[in-house]
Amino acid sequence: MKNRVFRWGCLLMLLLSPLSIARAQQPLPRIAVCIYNMADTFMSGFSNGLERMAQGLATLTVMDSQNNQNTQNAQVDELLAEGIDALIVNPVDRTAAVYLIRMAMQKQTPIVFINREPLLEDLRLFNKAYYVGIDPKQQGSLSGEKAAWYFQNVPGADRNGDGVMQLVLFKGEPGHQDTELRTQYALLALKQCNVQVELLSEDVALWDRTLGQEHMAALLNQYGDQIECVISNNDDMALGAIDALKAADYFSGRKFMPVFGNDATGLAMEALEQGSLYATVYNNAEAQGAAALRLAVLLSKGEEVTEENFSYSMQDRVVYINSVIFTADDMKH
Ligand code: BGC
Repeated sequence: MKNRVFRWGCLLMLLLSPLSIARAQQPLPRIAVCIYNMADTFMSGFSNGLERMAQGLATLTVMDSQNNQNTQNAQVDELLAEGIDALIVNPVDRTAAVYLIRMAMQKQTPIVFINREPLLEDLRLFNKAYYVGIDPKQQGSLSGEKAAWYFQNVPGADRNGDGVMQLVLFKGEPGHQDTELRTQYALLALKQCNVQVELLSEDVALWDRTLGQEHMAALLNQYGDQIECVISNNDDMALGAIDALKAADYFSGRKFMPVFGNDATGLAMEALEQGSLYATVYNNAEAQGAAALRLAVLLSKGEEVTEENFSYSMQDRVVYINSVIFTADDMKH
């Protein structure tokens, strides 16, 4: 009995110690998350993940700029004026990030960019400006290498037997680093693996499933079964292409097309399991979100970011999360 009273006493003292009172009373940092467009499948998933992760760590306000840079500028302006503790920003136009950086710098408010990488010279302007993303060169290489492997190892992959891969590429938004570098490095990897490519089309479908479907249907009309491979900058466009391919009798057991996506969204993983999507590169939103949030929390508390309190590798205030590729075969294990 005495022992129990003693234990309760200790617990009470601990709970009421000045330190724990201070800790309990300390408000959570207020962090604003500005998303370029919530209609984007990948970014809405990213933002939902951030909200889940922030519980108990920060009070989050999520803003949608509906693909309009002026709207985003105005939102950031207002958030800074209200005295927000830190910003996590997915810019509409990555070259406009400089404007946001300058605004944040005036207030000395930390700003962590995600998904759309500001130019390094802009990021360098302010020592509380960071970027968290995934290296699109690595992502492009992973798709290109896997497509080369498929072409060189799967019987019948070279449908017309001409030794050349007849390829269709689906590109995201022009100017987005993920569009340009994923494309460039996928083609480079194919070349380095000694696959000769005939690029039938390099089609801009703006990350969008419907456009992917419409453009693929048009390409099938034009090229029919000449197309031997489809590489897409993201899963939504790849799934759109698959919609059109299904309508042209692919994946029904009679015909197959290797389609490569990027992101590993929920729907893409289902398509992988069903055997329509051949591979997708992981655009690990959880890890990117966790790193961005950690940075925003540390910086909002005025703490220095060190190897001890921030476990991700970083260069020039740029953090790249590592990527991997998933294939249909991985899903069978
Ligand atoms: C993703 C796309 C997304 C885009 C938005 C890319 O990294 O792969 O799915 O639409 O980011 O900026």
